[in-house]
Amino acid sequence: MLDYDFSNLYQNALNAGNSEEDINQYQDLLKQSYNRVVADKPGFISMLDDISFAKNIEEWVKENVHGRYDHFVVLGIGGSALGNIALQKSLKPINWNRMTKEQRKGLPTIDIWDNVDPDFIRSNLDVIDPSKTLFNVISKSGTTAEAMSNYLIVRGILEERGLKPKDHFVFTTDPEKGVLNKIIEKDGIQKWEIPPSVGGRFSVLTPVGLLSAAVAGISVVKLLKGAKDTRDRILNSKPEKAPACEIALHHYIFGEKNKKINVMFAYSNALYFWADWYRQLWAESLGKAEDNGGKTVNYGLTPVKAIGPTDQHSQVQLYNDGPNDKVLTFLKVKDFNNEMRIPGYHKDIEALEYLGGKSLNKLINSEQKATAYAIKKHDKPNMTITFPKIDEENVGEFIFTYEFATTLLGYMADINPFNQPGVEDGKVYTYALMGRKGFGDKRREIDTEN
Ligand code: PA5
Repeated sequence: MLDYDFSNLYQNALNAGNSEEDINQYQDLLKQSYNRVVADKPGFISMLDDISFAKNIEEWVKENVHGRYDHFVVLGIGGSALGNIALQKSLKPINWNRMTKEQRKGLPTIDIWDNVDPDFIRSNLDVIDPSKTLFNVISKSGTTAEAMSNYLIVRGILEERGLKPKDHFVFTTDPEKGVLNKIIEKDGIQKWEIPPSVGGRFSVLTPVGLLSAAVAGISVVKLLKGAKDTRDRILNSKPEKAPACEIALHHYIFGEKNKKINVMFAYSNALYFWADWYRQLWAESLGKAEDNGGKTVNYGLTPVKAIGPTDQHSQVQLYNDGPNDKVLTFLKVKDFNNEMRIPGYHKDIEALEYLGGKSLNKLINSEQKATAYAIKKHDKPNMTITFPKIDEENVGEFIFTYEFATTLLGYMADINPFNQPGVEDGKVYTYALMGRKGFGDKRREIDTEN
C-alpha cells in the first residue's frame, strides 16, 4: 500500500499551510460532496463491482497474441493513450522495446502512437514489420481525427501488402456507438468494449489500458485488485480519513487561497509517466467555464509535471523562490527494482569521495527528502506519496486514488468533472479545415477572420 505524508500541507509545519480552521470550514462541503459522489457512483467506481473481466483479457491475450505477433501498437490519443503509456513505462523496463526478443521472453514490443506528427509516424512505421504486428485502435467515440487518421494509414499499408485487417487489428470502443462498430461488423475484427459510463481519461482500468498491459505480461488481475481494494477502503471509511479525500480537500482549499498550480514531482522515471496521466485527468476534469448551475466560474487548477532530481536543475529555483502559488506532490519509491552501487574511485577528491560506496537509490531518495525539506523551508506546501515498490497493486491504488480525488474535487467546486466542452471547439474547427461534410459554416468563419 502507498504511504501518504500530508504533514507539509498543514500550518503547524509551515505558515502557508492549511490551519485547523481552514479544514473545519470545508468539512461539511467535503462530506456532502463525498456523499454525492458515492450516491452517483460514476462508472469508474461501479465498473469495479465485478473485476472478473481482467481474467478474460489475460486469457484472450495468451491465446491470440502471445507467440503470434512481434509488435503490438496502440493507435489512440488522450484518455485512450496516456494510461497505456504509464502502465508500460512503470510496470515494464523503460527500455522494453530495445531489449532482445529473448530478453522479453518472446513477448511483443509495445508502442503507443498518440500523435499525428508525420515524422513520428513514419519513423515508428520504419521499425516494425506490419505483417508481424497487431494494431489496437482505441477510440471511445470512434471519431477522433488523430486515432482515425493513423488507423487509415495502417489500413492502407495492410491492404497494399494483401494482409487481412482482421488478422492485424483489434478495436477497443463503445459497445454500440461510433463508426468503429460498423468496421468491426464488416471485417469481423475482434472488439473490446469500453463501458459507456466510463469517460476517456477515467478508462485506464478498462480494456483501453488493460489490453496492451496484458500483452506486455503485466498482471491486470493484480492491477484491478489494487484499484478495487482502494475503492472499498474509500467507500468504507469516513471521508476525512481517506487519502483520496485529503488530497481533494487540501487542493480545493489551496485553490481557494489562490494556490492554483499543482506540481506532481516524480522522483522516478517510471512514475513520471503517471504525472503525465494525472496532468490530463486533473486538467480536463477540473478546468470548466461554468458551474453546475450554468454560472460562469472559469474554475481550474493547473497541473504541472516534473521529474526529480533532473528538474532540480531546471524548476526548483522557481518553486523555492518564485510566487507562493503552488502545491507540490512528490512521488517517491522506497524499494527500486535495482540497486546501483557507486564505486569508490578518486578518494583524494573531496567532491567525489563521499559518493563512493553509496548507492544511486540512496542518492535519489536523499535528494527527494532534501528538496521537500527545502520547499517547506521556503514556505511552499507539499505532500509526499511513497510507493513501497512499483508493482501492479500499488499502481492500481494510485490510479483509483487520483480518479476519486479528481472527481471529489470537481464535486466540491460544483463543476462537472466528466465532460470536456472546451476540447470541442478545436475539434470542430479542425473538421472544418480538413473539409469534413457539415462543417462548411465553420470553414467560412475561419476564412473570414484570418
Ligand atoms: O478524456 C477524454 O474523454 C478525452 O481525453 C478522450 O480520451 C480523447 O479525446 C480521445 O477520445 P476517443 O477515445 O473518443 O478517441
